[in-house]
Amino acid sequence: MNFLTGFWYAAGWSSEITTRPLARRILDQPVVLYRTEGGQAVALDDCCPHRMVPLSYGTVEGESLRCGYHGLRFDCAGRCVEVPGQTSIPPRARVRAWPLVERWQFAWVWMGNPEAADPALIPDLPWLDSPQWTCATGCVTYACNYVLLLDNLIDLSHTSFVHRSTIGTDAVARTPVKTAAEGDCVRVEREMHDTEPSRLYQKAGDFKGRVDRWQRIDYWPPSRVVIDAGAVSVDPAEDGRRINTRVINIITPETSRSTFHFWAFARDFKLDDRSMTDFIGDSLLVTFNEDRVLIDHQQRMLDERPQQRMLDNSADLGVVLARRMIDRLLRDQAAASGAD
Ligand code: FES
Ligand SMILES: [Fe+2]
Repeated sequence: MNFLTGFWYAAGWSSEITTRPLARRILDQPVVLYRTEGGQAVALDDCCPHRMVPLSYGTVEGESLRCGYHGLRFDCAGRCVEVPGQTSIPPRARVRAWPLVERWQFAWVWMGNPEAADPALIPDLPWLDSPQWTCATGCVTYACNYVLLLDNLIDLSHTSFVHRSTIGTDAVARTPVKTAAEGDCVRVEREMHDTEPSRLYQKAGDFKGRVDRWQRIDYWPPSRVVIDAGAVSVDPAEDGRRINTRVINIITPETSRSTFHFWAFARDFKLDDRSMTDFIGDSLLVTFNEDRVLIDHQQRMLDERPQQRMLDNSADLGVVLARRMIDRLLRDQAAASGAD
């Protein structure tokens, strides 16, 4: 499995990065994430050049990280600044530092050519920092390739069958979608008119009667899916009351068979209601764990039957377009590395 390296990936929520080093595998590379005492978040290759022990067993000292085995100390750029017991520092005593930028509550890491790591390419996720929105957030880890999770998020027809206790209703699978690739984005839209609100919407939006409901799913390669979803009451007594939400999915391959799913559910209502945030967070965890059971099994079945091809139906067009985009970018990446 080749990963697309010329993109910013979420290494984690910023809040996960502390002065206690955190070992995380990203695009199948071992990375140590830590925060210096001055507050800078850092990502280094998680392998000490001395005896190749993971640096994540080390400790943060001021602006540096000291290996937990024989005490070599490295600065934020990965240069060795101290070898205990000797005055000279061998030139090979350095580790790779991955570009890391914190924005929108995430720590974004660049696993490709560091010279191309332009922070302007970090995805825009304004809902995470806006006073007009409030978020429940979390992370789920799947034992599957990240493309299967994209498949799951781009085709929401499964919600009618998998997520009946939270976000699914019969109308979702029954309602045809409009699908289009626009530039570097795949959009899948579904409008459901005069329909039952889902259980989550009934409770979150206090909808007693029927609603118009929409889902606009936008996918950008390699692994970002933002779903604009909401509902508006069709009950004349409710005077067009509506709720807007964004389900933000930032996906980072851990290995070719495991995937981090960083998610945020942003809403524009009941902004200060902590119990609503907890309720939504709990519901989303139930929802994503329902997906996880199926997708992890799906991965095992795919590995067991590499010759068998999946069947595409009309709701899968978005998924097909997304896979094509990934394949094209992988070909471009291979061509560019061949040209180097
Ligand atoms: S292995 Fe890191 S200092 Fe020896
Ligand atoms: Fe799902």
